[in-house]
Amino acid sequence: MEAGMVTLAPALVRFSGIQKTYDGEHLVVKNLDLDIRKGEFVTLLGPSGSGKTTTLMMLAGFEVPTHGEIYLADRPIKNMPPHKRDIGMVFQNYALFPHLTIAENIAFPLSVRGTSKAEAQERVAAALRMIKMEAMAQRRPGQLSGGQQQRVALARALVFNPQLVLMDEPLGALDKRLREQMQLEIKQLHERMGITIVYVTHDQSEALTMSDRIAVFNDGIVQQIDKPDALYEHPVNSFVAHFIGENNVLSGTVETVDKDYCRVGLAGGGTVTARAVNIAGAGASTSLSVRPERVTLVPDGSSGEGANRLPAKVQNTIYLGDHALAVLDVAGNEEFMVKLQPGAHGSLRPGESIFVTFRPEDCLALDPV
Ligand SMILES: Nc1ncnc2c1ncn2[C@@H]1O[C@H](COP(=O)(O)OP(=O)(O)O)[C@@H](O)[C@H]1O
Ligand SMILES: [Mg+2]
Repeated sequence: MEAGMVTLAPALVRFSGIQKTYDGEHLVVKNLDLDIRKGEFVTLLGPSGSGKTTTLMMLAGFEVPTHGEIYLADRPIKNMPPHKRDIGMVFQNYALFPHLTIAENIAFPLSVRGTSKAEAQERVAAALRMIKMEAMAQRRPGQLSGGQQQRVALARALVFNPQLVLMDEPLGALDKRLREQMQLEIKQLHERMGITIVYVTHDQSEALTMSDRIAVFNDGIVQQIDKPDALYEHPVNSFVAHFIGENNVLSGTVETVDKDYCRVGLAGGGTVTARAVNIAGAGASTSLSVRPERVTLVPDGSSGEGANRLPAKVQNTIYLGDHALAVLDVAGNEEFMVKLQPGAHGSLRPGESIFVTFRPEDCLALDPV
């Protein structure tokens, strides 16, 4: 347990000082400490090559950590073979057996575990009901759509009531609509069944939609572990700010620091007040992060009390149905985005001079990129 933290439920999974190298030189997972509580939906989010799959494979038992220990329900499992770990798995490429029927595919983990025929039949029927595919029990995988095959893979991972289910980019092969539908289905299943899920994706919106907590990976290091809203509102560094959600960057130099805030002189001209989140101190370079929906356009220099204000030039506007974006040149950033109400973009002309304002608390001073 971390000091000072309130624990809601005991950790089901604990990564403790985990390191992994494949070639004996380069660490692809560096000092991972992560607790996953029973019933939690935790997502490992990060770009390709950041160590997400390696982490999942070590938990599943298909890779051995180079250093550290993994605990499952307080038992060290580094030397426990995969089939003894009571973990269900779902991968991107379904991995269904093509020659078996859907019912036989779902029954497979039960037959491996020696479940009686009667009980297996009952459980497969329940699993088919769960994925709403009772009518397709006798078909073969080749006769199903991608989404249906992924549902079967899900049922197969859940049918033996594992204490833990691991999913590695399970929706990566599906088109956008189906992916979003399956995201909600998996989330509902998780809530209904109370299982613990460790989910891997490189898609930040998928992670935000589904997770209780997200561990953001980059280069084998967890940059931040937090709830989705905390990651969005309080990123601890530029990598997290850029990886989660839309983000405008302004580069500058810290002039003064006053408790939680600092004054920053912008490289492209002007001075703003920002939250001092991750800066080295006065004189240091910084990258400011401002979300597009936290910026307001004003026709003249007027702005709210204490708000930052910078001159801007309209580049163009983008209509997106439920909202619109203004693309501006602000302090040398020629793609500074401001989110607008739908319709509000009609009055902006390319080349027009205008001002942007944003509150100091919505402007984060982070490590320079
Ligand atoms: N079996 C392996 N042998 C050697 N290197 C590997 C192996 N699996 C992954 N890697 C390397 O480890 C790093 C992390 O990979 P991976 O865990 O698959 O990342 P992610 O799932 O985040 O894309 C990458 O540089 C990858 O090339
Ligand atoms: Mg991967």
